[in-house]
Amino acid sequence: MYDFYLGGSHNFAADRQLAARTIEAWPDVAHLCQANRAFLRRAVTHLAVIGVDQFLDLGSGIPTAGNVHEVVHAINPNARVVYVDADAVAIAHSTALLAHVPGATAVYADLRDADAVLSNPRVAGFLDLSRPVALLMFASLPFVPDEDDPAGIVAAYRDETVCGSYLALSHGTSDYRPDAVRRVEDVYTRASHTMRLRTRDAIGAMMAGYELLDPGLVDIIHWRPEPQSPPDPLGGDVTRYSMLAGVGRR
Ligand SMILES: C[S@@+](CC[C@H](N)C(=O)[O-])C[C@H]1O[C@@H](n2cnc3c(N)ncnc32)[C@H](O)[C@@H]1O
Repeated sequence: MYDFYLGGSHNFAADRQLAARTIEAWPDVAHLCQANRAFLRRAVTHLAVIGVDQFLDLGSGIPTAGNVHEVVHAINPNARVVYVDADAVAIAHSTALLAHVPGATAVYADLRDADAVLSNPRVAGFLDLSRPVALLMFASLPFVPDEDDPAGIVAAYRDETVCGSYLALSHGTSDYRPDAVRRVEDVYTRASHTMRLRTRDAIGAMMAGYELLDPGLVDIIHWRPEPQSPPDPLGGDVTRYSMLAGVGRR
């Protein structure tokens, strides 16, 4: 469904049917997915520029324009990127794309089990967790239900990383348009994963133990926008994105 919103071609009829219902409930969904990808690029660029050279992308999705390894390798060709997703199609496409990319790999795993992910031989063999690593959780935690304790999951990863590691996170918020959010959440009850948008406080709790880089946890289009960016397609109305983003240092 996310691939469809982004205008990709790796989607099936069932995805498109359900995605059409999301678009009815939230007509701006394509813009917010693009804003999420733009934040990914800005955050990952910043981390690579300040010297982070290991990235663990949790809930990485189907490859699309501006993948993490492409952004990172343009700055540091020796950096390492591990993609993790529980969607077999996403991992199959990622694996094919990375066949001749020595600095990146894709692993099929459930991000909710931090111990299993971090001890997975493909992850442990690729990243050196005795050195700083950037954890990337772009629009993946909404697919973790409350009963699985998303903040606890992030904390489990945090505690396995050394000081000087980073967390970059984006997450839809229910604060601005609760009725439309409920309609979207209802569409996702028919999808393979349910989706839960959360309050600013709940999203902020996921970043506990991290010192937030400026400007903090903010509306996604306000996280270090680039001066050369084209005008905002939604006129800067953050409620139409309803997505928060932040980067923190452990
Ligand atoms: C909206 S997409 C975001 C993709 C990418 N991070 C981005 O921001 O462009 C969410 C991704 O999270 C993945 N995901 C959801 N729950 C997951 C889980 N428990 N373990 C691993 N991946 C998961 C989905 O399969 C999907 O690919």
